[in-house]
Amino acid sequence: MRSVSIKELLTGKKLLQEVTVNGWVRTFRSNRFIALNDGSCLSNIQCVVDFEKFEENILKQINTGAALKISGTLVESQGKGQNVEIQVNDIFVHGGADPETYPIQPKKHSLEFLREKAHLRVRTNTFSAVMRVRAALAFAIHEYFRNNGFYYFHSPIITGSDAEGAGEMFRVTTLDAKNPPLTEDGEVDHKEDFFGKETNLTVSGQLEAEAYAMALGKVYTFGPTFRAENSNTSRHLAEFWMIEPEMAFYDLDANMDLAEDFIKNVLSYVLENCKEDLVFLEKRLLDEEKTKPQAERSEMPLIEKLKFITENNFKRVTYTEAIEILRNSKPNKKKKFQYPINEWGADLQSEHERYLVEKHFKCPVILFDYPAKIKAFYMRLNEDGKTVRAMDILFPGIGEIVGGSQREERLDVLKEKMAALQIPEEELWWYLDLRKFGTAVHSGFGLGFERLVLFATGMGNIRDVIPFPRTPQNAEF
Ligand code: 4AD
Ligand code: MG
Repeated sequence: MRSVSIKELLTGKKLLQEVTVNGWVRTFRSNRFIALNDGSCLSNIQCVVDFEKFEENILKQINTGAALKISGTLVESQGKGQNVEIQVNDIFVHGGADPETYPIQPKKHSLEFLREKAHLRVRTNTFSAVMRVRAALAFAIHEYFRNNGFYYFHSPIITGSDAEGAGEMFRVTTLDAKNPPLTEDGEVDHKEDFFGKETNLTVSGQLEAEAYAMALGKVYTFGPTFRAENSNTSRHLAEFWMIEPEMAFYDLDANMDLAEDFIKNVLSYVLENCKEDLVFLEKRLLDEEKTKPQAERSEMPLIEKLKFITENNFKRVTYTEAIEILRNSKPNKKKKFQYPINEWGADLQSEHERYLVEKHFKCPVILFDYPAKIKAFYMRLNEDGKTVRAMDILFPGIGEIVGGSQREERLDVLKEKMAALQIPEEELWWYLDLRKFGTAVHSGFGLGFERLVLFATGMGNIRDVIPFPRTPQNAEF
């Protein structure tokens, strides 16, 4: 008999039919009620066992975590808490789970404890819900771009260029770390390395995406990105996934319009398609918030917060306006910011971003036209000569979720910019070519996928929304 998923059983019309399901035991009560879960949805199916029909040897293997195949009749449930249940005729134990050593017992585990069991934590309600929402978001992202005339473009993972110019890259090399070949000056000789030059894991697929946008029109990348920044925060990973659309003939306004529409659209998809998981995550969050001081609790339940985002416009504010707001803000005057805002040109820290979003505007904010000095070399210089066409989208509880810009399409201006930052032209000769041959206004942005998942699930730590997080001193699994 073909087995069906629990999701199908709970939503389909198979009453009084013989069914077979496969899954893992969540609980086994009174030697009679098995709660079985197969990951297809949050809910378990209740399987009612007449223990006189089964040998002791079978019953004693039905422990939390065991994998079973169960056949029986689907009937209307006698008890409360579920509509249907399976009256069990047959049980096959795929594999048991020793209750003495299986770590995921049916009780509340801390997220910290579960992080150390990343290979098993997806068997909990919280992590399975998060990972289903994550998968739904990924699907929605591809669907959105596909429906809007974008081509999915695969940017390289190994690269010879530092797109963000931040120098926080992971070296890729096959040289012998103990005994590398040296040049006459005693430096490591990368000419003898695998690629004949220094290479790293990419921090962004943007530069290559620009090349493709200048032929395919609208492209996007969606892939892993690596940053060796030593930031042990709840918002940073060393390996994260980024979505980077890049569009020919888009200026900054069109770029902002797209980013806003895109985010609203994918969150709407999740609201529509992940109801059961969101209801669960909302309740989890409410329980968690009860343990926090009043001032730190979020003002809206999760689903209301997601709807609020999809139904309201993001506030668009220039960097210069934002600095004025921050400079005159209470926390700045009372010296409550760790980094006080004194003058125009200061880089914004997450405390400032969160003040703007959570306290001042109380909605997502798009900040644009940043000082050139604090942004990457490729952003288009404004007429004022000191700001660039950059935009960051700031979200409540998250801070920066998107960073993007209109790109500098003028060859001479770009060359000047690179010279000032001592970026050698030889390194980016191909990027300069894009400005020599058929250059045009173009723009794009990068959305941190895990930050989006954080927001959509209401989780508090980015390590809990990616299956196997990589952070400083941590690459287990
Ligand atoms: O602002 P960033 O550095 O922008 C870029 O990389 C551009 N090349 C994007 C583009 O225009 N195509 O990064 C974009 C986003 C951030 O807003 C943030 O959401 C996320 O990537 N991000 C991280 N997420 C998790 N861990 C990290 N260490 C991250 N660094 C950036
Ligand atoms: Mg940024």
